[in-house]
Amino acid sequence: MGTFVFISSCKKEKIVGLIAEKAMVVSARIEASEIGVKILKKGGNAYDAMIATHFALAVVYPVAGNIGGGGFMVYRNANGEKGALDFREKAPITANRDMYLDSLGNIIKNKSRLGIHAVGIPGSVAGVFEVHKKLGSLPMKELIQPAIDLARNGFVVTEKQAASLNSANSSFKKANNYTIYFEKEWKAGDVLKQEELALTLERIRDYGKDGFYKGKTAEYIVNYSKELGGLICYNDLEKYQAIWRKPIEFSYKNYSITSMTLPASGGICLAQILKAIEPFDLSKIKHNSTEYIQLLTEAERRSYADRANYLGDIDFVDVPIDSLIDTDYINKRMATFSWDKATPSSKVSNGKILGYESNETTHYSIVDQFGNAVAVTTTLNTGYGSKVLVKGAGFFLNNEMDDFSSKPGVPNVYGLVGSKANEIAAEKRMLSSMTPTIIEENNQLKMVVGTPGGSTIITSVLQNILNVFEYDMGMQESVNQPRFHHQWLPDQIRMEPNGFDKKTKEKLTKLGYNLLERNSLIIGRVDAILIRKDGTLEGGADTRGDDAAAGF
Ligand code: DON
Repeated sequence: MGTFVFISSCKKEKIVGLIAEKAMVVSARIEASEIGVKILKKGGNAYDAMIATHFALAVVYPVAGNIGGGGFMVYRNANGEKGALDFREKAPITANRDMYLDSLGNIIKNKSRLGIHAVGIPGSVAGVFEVHKKLGSLPMKELIQPAIDLARNGFVVTEKQAASLNSANSSFKKANNYTIYFEKEWKAGDVLKQEELALTLERIRDYGKDGFYKGKTAEYIVNYSKELGGLICYNDLEKYQAIWRKPIEFSYKNYSITSMTLPASGGICLAQILKAIEPFDLSKIKHNSTEYIQLLTEAERRSYADRANYLGDIDFVDVPIDSLIDTDYINKRMATFSWDKATPSSKVSNGKILGYESNETTHYSIVDQFGNAVAVTTTLNTGYGSKVLVKGAGFFLNNEMDDFSSKPGVPNVYGLVGSKANEIAAEKRMLSSMTPTIIEENNQLKMVVGTPGGSTIITSVLQNILNVFEYDMGMQESVNQPRFHHQWLPDQIRMEPNGFDKKTKEKLTKLGYNLLERNSLIIGRVDAILIRKDGTLEGGADTRGDDAAAGF
């Protein structure tokens, strides 16, 4: 299942991902993809598979899969109806704007990143129950059981996973007041069993959403938070609600694109960048050439400047979404772009809009045999979130509070700066870059795509859309391409190592671009599905991780 094949042609070998006739799940782990597919084979729909895959990832991919985090879902029904679910974490009731500042107004190092103070109120369990209520077809018990079994019986740790767990070891110690069962020297082939997590999942199975937000699990969360001096109280958990939102919908050439809206910035920024690029004839611009990188960089720079200034939780701040994705506005923003010279970020602030009307995640894409499509990006924020493993309940809590702007102009872990729109307030949702996206052509489903990668999420999704629709690549071929990223500040183009030729880089430097190419740099892990011309599905599972497609 999750491997790809080489199709020989006369000249070169084309990389093709897993092909399936009817249905597919692509996720960070083969176990999770296969569990999703098993549900589909039983007659479940994409939403049932979403739930099963989500819970499975919470077990088998603890670095980002979660019940202690949150995320976003964009969907498209077989009949073309679209929607979006926000199950983003929110700030505790007792949170306040300056909670990460000392008495002199300086940021307290790591307080928003490591340990209990970094935790936002989790949304994932509320999210999957919302999905089930509105769109699911099989009983919840059947959807969660595979994850319970996986937690109880264990799964085999991969090489990448062992390295990741080992590198987090000292942080696990710092964040907890007991020895968590992740603290050991891991090697590939070890079996990880999580009995406490299995019991938590059983409470969710037996009591529904209340099995997490009330009762014993809530007690475990609140008690441990208190022990560690955190803010989470019962009321925080009881009040949490996932919210159905109107997705961002826009067109790029012949394609209709549906992506996530605030509190995720993904849809708005993707729309801005694609619309900025749209007037340029990409058939004359070589893929990953100097000109290509210039054009995308300048569009990205302007969009991320707007992101920093305008975007935040739509339930707390007015965000002029329509003005921000207005074509005239975007064309005006691009008027200062020159092929001859980089526009320094210091010369780019947010645009003047017309008026007011906002290091580890995981994405999975699903298409079912009925034609429904689901794109979900979910996270604990950085790897293993706050590193706090709820005592007695066996799951990690997120460190999503770092996605707020703790202080205007001071970068978060992804180097993103923010302003008032994304300042902390009680019960507010922190701004996200997640970009679960669905693309149609002539009202037909074409692609389901998304990725982790913090601030680089938006630009990774962007590059995959262009790879396929402008440069005629298949899904796996597209996912395999080297990626680059610019986010206004810092003023640099991050590039994956060994992916770009020397001349291209030299020319960019001459034009005034600062390049950052680090050996360890990985930009995103894209998991996507392409509907091919013959109606079959091609999976793109990112080889930067252990990601895998399964289907039938
Ligand atoms: O919501 C966001 O934008 C971030 N919390 C996502 C974090 C992420 O993608 C980390 N992965 N590498």
